[in-house]
Amino acid sequence: MKKLLTTVLFLTAVLNLWAAEVPLVANISGRDVSSLNGAWNYIVDVQEEGYYDYRMKPYDWGFFRNAKPQKPEDLIEYDFDKSPTMQIPGDWNTQDERLFFYEGTVWFKKSFEWHPQANRRTLLYFGAVNYDAYVFVNGKKAGHHIGGFTPFNFDVTELLKDGENNVIVKVDNKRHAEDVPTQIFDWWNYGGITRDVKLVSVTPVYIENYKLQLASLEGRLLNFSVKLNKAEAGHQVTLRIPELKISKQMMTGEDGSAMIAMKAKPQLWSPENPKLYKVEILLGEETLTDEIGFRTIETRGKQILLNGEPIFLKGICIHEEKPNGGGRANSTDDAHTLLSWAKELGCNFVRLAHYPHNEYAVREAERMGILVWSEIPVYWTIAWTNPETYTNAERQLTDMIARDQNRANIIIWSIANETPHSAERDLFLSRLSKHAKALDDSRLISMAMEVTSASNYHNKLQDNMNEYVDVVSFNQYVGWYRDVNDAPKMMWEIPYDKPVIVSEFGGGAKYGLHGATNQRWTEEFQENLYQENLAMLDKIDGLAGTTPWILKDFRSPRRVLTGIQDYYNMKGLFSDKGEKKKAFYVLKAWYEKK
Ligand code: GCU
Repeated sequence: MKKLLTTVLFLTAVLNLWAAEVPLVANISGRDVSSLNGAWNYIVDVQEEGYYDYRMKPYDWGFFRNAKPQKPEDLIEYDFDKSPTMQIPGDWNTQDERLFFYEGTVWFKKSFEWHPQANRRTLLYFGAVNYDAYVFVNGKKAGHHIGGFTPFNFDVTELLKDGENNVIVKVDNKRHAEDVPTQIFDWWNYGGITRDVKLVSVTPVYIENYKLQLASLEGRLLNFSVKLNKAEAGHQVTLRIPELKISKQMMTGEDGSAMIAMKAKPQLWSPENPKLYKVEILLGEETLTDEIGFRTIETRGKQILLNGEPIFLKGICIHEEKPNGGGRANSTDDAHTLLSWAKELGCNFVRLAHYPHNEYAVREAERMGILVWSEIPVYWTIAWTNPETYTNAERQLTDMIARDQNRANIIIWSIANETPHSAERDLFLSRLSKHAKALDDSRLISMAMEVTSASNYHNKLQDNMNEYVDVVSFNQYVGWYRDVNDAPKMMWEIPYDKPVIVSEFGGGAKYGLHGATNQRWTEEFQENLYQENLAMLDKIDGLAGTTPWILKDFRSPRRVLTGIQDYYNMKGLFSDKGEKKKAFYVLKAWYEKK
């Protein structure tokens, strides 16, 4: 009995040997990485047999042990190596038809070779896992992460061994009221390891993150700041921008960070000229490379100024979904396809709805000269008074900014979409707004407010959050959810001296379905709705841009009209196959005049 107790205590100690979740490491693609993408074995575990015992208590003999029978009588009731595989990154819904509607736990296992290197540490990086991820390396817990659309990484150096290793991830995408997003949302709840998995090799002291931006047009001042993973003084960091003949050295202070300002005359990044500069950041033997553009973004009254010039944001909303029923998008090619469609529309701006999209998409948009609105999934009725919900939302905001703060094309951080008015909501969102500003005061803050009714054709936007945003944006569905064919009569009052973005409007249509303009679901109905809405938008004082809902038809479990929706939201200007609906040409023509 005593022997058993010591064994159990020892095992518990070993199993609870957590690797460290370390702050998000930026610019993974500019580092020394090896990919764990590819085929992963998976086990669908509806009742979480692999994690909880029959008393619903987590137990030490779960699937994370990747156990194998040692003796003939050994009872092991799972075997990853005999289990099917699916491609990672990827969602399970479009790779295993049994899992199309599935929300629950799936276990994933990947075996890989690893060999220790002197004076190096190894981080395990996930681009994103939807939604709740427990990560194990060689049977030991590496860490836990919630939130389906932002990256995270663990230092797993101590968990790795020379030779064959395995990583096992328990992924659960069940929805809960206290989550972010909460229980209901109008997009498919694609589950799984939806973005890249990488091993990142770093020196014990490494560059965690950095920020390089054009501080002001006057005097063309560049600001650079860098943060190491260790709060250590005396580390020399060198910044090089060869094309600008810049090479600057600086020493870190007590907190392991350094910053400098320097004069420079870079070409400015803009949709017409998406100029990026090769940047090198050196620390010891390590050189981190990136491509960065320089621009300024600000507001002046009701105008948005890019590089000091007023700009009209010709936008469209996009969900992170491949065409042709392909599931979660997660590559440069996927992004290029969707962004090229937006370019065909005449867009210079996209609203990446309603969650941070993958880094490939943001970087591809930057190369293509497309400005970006990036958003966290504080969507509809979040649990405003739940402190963990706030911590979760703030964490997603922090990670979104940490990952993309060097992207010149991102001009707006959005903290919410269509949230109901209340004091609790206002407090929650005002805290997020201040947090975003504290992390990055060089970009504009917004959120998608909403105007859901008019009195006597008078639409008025009223939202206490107007004080906490730089751009007042709102969704309105005149012609679809309300006031069909009344758009021409509508008047709009937006009583705030700030630029206005209509962040959603639109209506559904099934590609190829034709009929009268008042016949729902026909292309003619959607075409007419766009004609009327765009004429209405032309009357809105201070309109600085719009992002109609939406680029392409996308999957949603809330859209069940057989023969029309079939689990697709049909408000796309493109069908899911990329076929242009009549309304596409209406918006394109309007943007040509803008
Ligand atoms: C809302 C919401 C979208 C949704 C759209 C719709 O405004 O923000 O996520 O898909 O309306 O109803 O189609």
